[in-house]
Amino acid sequence: MSCCKKLPNRRTFLAATGAAATAAVALSACSPGPEQDTFSGGALTKALALDDLQPGESVQMAVGANQVLIHRESQDVVHAYSAVCTHQGCIVGVKDHDASSPFVCPCHASNFDKLTGDAIAGPAQRPLTRHETAIEDGWILVQVEPA
Ligand code: FES
Repeated sequence: MSCCKKLPNRRTFLAATGAAATAAVALSACSPGPEQDTFSGGALTKALALDDLQPGESVQMAVGANQVLIHRESQDVVHAYSAVCTHQGCIVGVKDHDASSPFVCPCHASNFDKLTGDAIAGPAQRPLTRHETAIEDGWILVQVEPA
């Protein structure tokens, strides 16, 4: 009888650690992305007339003290995000008005989804900060810090 546990041989050990590493990679690939921040404070502020942004169009502009990206998804659905890139803080722009094309950061080419603000390509990992919006009396309002 032996007094010691049998240690795994080299092949068994390598197979076990390889499987664990594969499982860790699979888990990280399946886990949801980072949570999106929502801008708080400030007030709903007139950004632009509803007629100046047709469904499917986007614009990058200053509203109050904030640089924002606004995308009009449909007749009565508008999204707004901080234009400050979550990678290193450059101002993200609207490269193409095609609704399916992303917002693009000019510094290192991170791409952000217009409907969610999620980082979908490039070095940025976090989504753009969301700003609350409203449509009122023919205006698009965005919650920002006053100028
Ligand atoms: S600062 Fe936007 S991708 Fe680097």
